[in-house]
Parts: sequence; C-alpha cells; structure tokens
Amino acid sequence: MKSATKTFGILTSGGDCPGLNAAIRGVARAAYGMYDMNIIGISNGYRGLIEGTAQPLKPIDFSGILTRGGTILGASREKPFEYDETLADSEVGMDKPELIKENYRKLKLDALVVLGGNGTNTTGYLLSQEGLNVVGLPKTIDNDIWGTDITFGFHTAVDIATEAIDRLHSTATSHNRVMVVELMGHKAGWLALYAGIAGGGDVILLPEIPYDVSSIAAHLKNRAAEGKSFSIVVVAEGSLSVEESRMGKKERRKFRDGQPFQSIGYRIAQEISAAAGMESRVTVLGYLQRGGIPSSYDRVLATTFGTEAAKLLYSGDYGKMVAMVGNSIMPVDLAEVAGKIKQVPPNHHLIETARLVGTCFGD
Ligand code: F6P
Repeated sequence: MKSATKTFGILTSGGDCPGLNAAIRGVARAAYGMYDMNIIGISNGYRGLIEGTAQPLKPIDFSGILTRGGTILGASREKPFEYDETLADSEVGMDKPELIKENYRKLKLDALVVLGGNGTNTTGYLLSQEGLNVVGLPKTIDNDIWGTDITFGFHTAVDIATEAIDRLHSTATSHNRVMVVELMGHKAGWLALYAGIAGGGDVILLPEIPYDVSSIAAHLKNRAAEGKSFSIVVVAEGSLSVEESRMGKKERRKFRDGQPFQSIGYRIAQEISAAAGMESRVTVLGYLQRGGIPSSYDRVLATTFGTEAAKLLYSGDYGKMVAMVGNSIMPVDLAEVAGKIKQVPPNHHLIETARLVGTCFGD
C-alpha cells in the first residue's frame, strides 16, 4: 500500500440493494484519489471484521462498479452486539465486539465506513461508543432509516415495483381479477406507498395503517359498481390487520405461524375473495426489488453519499451518518439514528395525495 495519510476499512451489511457498489466507488475514488487514503475492503459485513477477512482495495477493484448490482464486498446480517440463539457452537461465548476492536487495530485502521440499514448504523454507533472512528451511509430499499429523508436503493426498488404493478394492470383487466402484489418492507411501508401511488394501486396496505378487510371489500365492490371489474392491491409484507395490531409481538408471531399462508399477500387475497366474492391472484416481488442495476437517481445519490463520507474521513468528523435532509446532504449523529425506525407518519402528505385520488388504505 502507498504511504497514505489515513487507512480506513469499508463494509456493507444487511440486505443488499442496487447502489451499494456506486456508494463504495464514491467513497473509494474520493478517498484514494483526492485525499490520498488507503482502503481496506472488509468481506461480508461485520462478520468480516470479526473474522479478520479483509484486503486492500486498489483502483482496479473499485473501477467499473458504478452500475453493478449487489456489493463487491459481500454482506451479512451479523449483529455483533446482539445475542443470537442460533449461534454455531464455535461462536458461543465469543466476544464479537472485542474481536472487532482487535482486528480494527491489527488492520491499522484509522476509521471504518459502514454501508447499511438500521441495524448496521446502530452497530456502527455502538462501535463508535467503544472508541472506533465510524462513518455510516444509509442503505436500504425500505427507506426506513431515521435521520435521512431517503436511502440509496429505495428509488430503484420503487422503479422495479412500479414496473411490476404496471404489468399486473393489463392481466388484471383481461381477467377481471383482484391482483394482490406483495412488496418488501417489514416495519415501514415507504416502498408500498410510493410504488402504490406510482403504479395506480387501488388499495395500498402499510404496516403503519392496520387494515379491516371489510373496508377493502366495500371499496372493491364500489369500483365494480362503477364498472371497474379489476383492482390492484399493493401490500407491504409487514401489513397488519386491525386485530393483529392489537396483539403483542409473541401473540402476533404465534397467530402468523398458525396461518396456512406463505406470506401476507396470500392471506389478504383469500380474505378479499371471501369478503368481496371476487377472484384474486397474488404476486410476491420479493428479492427482485433488491436485484439488478441502480437507477440513475440512486447512482447519483449513492455517489454523493460516498464522496460525502470521504470528506468526513478526511476531516476526522466521526460518529456520523451521511444523510439527505430536505435538499441538503449533511452528516447526522449516529447517536440520533441508532435504534430507531422511520415509519410513514399517518399525516404524511403522500397518504393525503393517495386518498385524494381515491386510494383505499384498508381503514
Ligand atoms: O432490509 C431490507 C429487506 O429487503 C426487507 O425489506 C426484507 O424484509 C428483508 O430485507 C429480507 O431480509 P433477508 O435478505 O435477510 O431475507
């Protein structure tokens, strides 16, 4: 490695998404080319830092990756500060934070850049509390990270889901059916809200607004009475019925485990068919929403977030996550982000927009 001003490690953690490589490229090209830093690529998220699986990144490694999906570093959902009952025997009793600090020192890192979602940036905050110099970048298709208006990966997922909904319109119309399309988004319904509006969904179900199937059935019957014999129902995978919303976590999990449905979309389709007497079909988009190349918007956003992170590394402004607030890119304290989820507020302007064009939210 060259005799650099600083050496930092970079890792990608949590669910992957388009834009991760664009962000890696943004950090790396700025830090290496403009700020004369060395870069250590850490494999498979925090697991690589626990195991010490890391290697220097050279310009050839972060060249030509702007449009590549996924992450060249690999990812995992390792949460070093959380006890995991499914731990392998070899990992029981392992002090993962201590191993991370040891490897941080062995690799002679001056700082660590973490690209990830809520869990990743929360772990980044906890490591900064242990004395590591951490800079976070907000990545997730769910757009549910506190402190930033938008995360990279979200815009591309909205495009993917919108195109799918457009395609479902034509077949729903041909067969006079209710098409239920299930999107990702366990805890927050941003993806379903944006893609539901963009795709002209007649019903949009979000984790934030518990649904009553009788309200959905009434809406679909009204549509039919107006001569619209098909409907599109956009469902976030974390959507809840009113009765489920009143359950505690354990009771809800027991209730769901007892259900004969592969996922919420199938249950809602069955409930709608029973309540409205309409034929329904289900499409679960799943990992398609996390695959492929990033949209132009996400390429620009991820590159901008990446170069901003390089500036924070250079100035030594650690314990921060790069964020978009309004139209400004700025650092926010990881302490503010850690442990929180950004859900769709019930009074969000897009909820009003959707209702004004006649969309039903199941309430
Ligand atoms: O965190 C983003 C996300 O895609 C969620 O929307 C989804 O529920 C989850 O990841 C899937 O996790 P995994 O990739 O571990 O199956």
